[in-house]
Amino acid sequence: MPHAVPNQPHIPVMLAEVLRALKPVDGEIHIDATFGAGGYTSAILERGAKVVAIDRDPDAIAAGAALVAAHDPNLILQQGRFSNLDALARAAGFEEVDGVVADIGVSSMQIDQAERGFSFQKDGPLDMRMEQTGVSAADVVNTMARSDLTRVIGILGEERQASRISAEITERREKEVFSTTLQLAKCVEDVLGRNPKDRIHPATRTFQALRIFVNRELEELADALLAAERILKPQGRLVIVTFHSLEDRLVKRFLQDRAEAPGGSRHLPPVDDKPLTFKQIKRGAVSASAGEAGENPRARSAKLRSALRTEHPPRDGGREIFGLPRLAEVKRNGRSE
Ligand SMILES: C[S@@+](CC[C@H](N)C(=O)[O-])C[C@H]1O[C@@H](n2cnc3c(N)ncnc32)[C@H](O)[C@@H]1O
Repeated sequence: MPHAVPNQPHIPVMLAEVLRALKPVDGEIHIDATFGAGGYTSAILERGAKVVAIDRDPDAIAAGAALVAAHDPNLILQQGRFSNLDALARAAGFEEVDGVVADIGVSSMQIDQAERGFSFQKDGPLDMRMEQTGVSAADVVNTMARSDLTRVIGILGEERQASRISAEITERREKEVFSTTLQLAKCVEDVLGRNPKDRIHPATRTFQALRIFVNRELEELADALLAAERILKPQGRLVIVTFHSLEDRLVKRFLQDRAEAPGGSRHLPPVDDKPLTFKQIKRGAVSASAGEAGENPRARSAKLRSALRTEHPPRDGGREIFGLPRLAEVKRNGRSE
């Protein structure tokens, strides 16, 4: 059953920059891979383009019903994962598209609802599952082997004290299982201490790590980039907004591999067996304006990268170019494998 719609709307990040890079026009078809509250989708529809919108969160899909009704037949909203965005577009009847945009991460609605378990500031179940099914954050902290937990928190949270945190978690869970967000936030705070001058809560990095792990966010992003390569038509546009370095690094690696001549020099002609499938619209990442960053704290860490699809067929091969970390698996209510 969908959760109640929260009162705080999600403010779309870098919308002007997204539209400038995506350039949707009348008659085109675009994929909004992260529908959320429909901020990007509404703006694309206003430009006269059709949208295939995707979100893995059933609450986002339910909340989008009114927008779908208002824009029928120009908006097709589907629950699913963006790793599968090419198959979802084909299922909607489109063999190729003019644009793919993604705004990676969680929405304000997800963070604001305590019962979704994303926030260390509000007490709720230790959940963090965008899809509301599968392995939860509680399953991870209650069952993962200590060394595996250290890797998850250290790598995905970029937390230098990961080993101390996982030691404390594994000790406490012997006495009482972790079931709430505040229980975990307090555990991390007890390990790291809290300086009132710190801008961020000590549990920020641990929560980020668990969220990325639970939702397989890095694998999803890597696969979404490969799927976009398969479904974009020549001259089609790819626009990705990310919020932390782990994600931005994947987009950067993909574009280095697909849009830069081998040998690292863009002055050399591309070799025949590795034709470039993208051309960067602008080299490097674009950040939010100072004005937007001042008004919307989420925008401060945003990075936008964009590229134009070339006429060459998609490359063979998969995730290996991304250098994704190898982490242990967790089963629901089960043990580390
Ligand atoms: C930052 S919000 C998008 C906000 C949107 N751009 C707007 O303007 O309202 C990210 C959304 O992407 C969804 N999402 C995250 N990972 C996903 C994935 N792998 N597949 C599909 N949706 C995903 C989340 O559920 C969330 O609703």
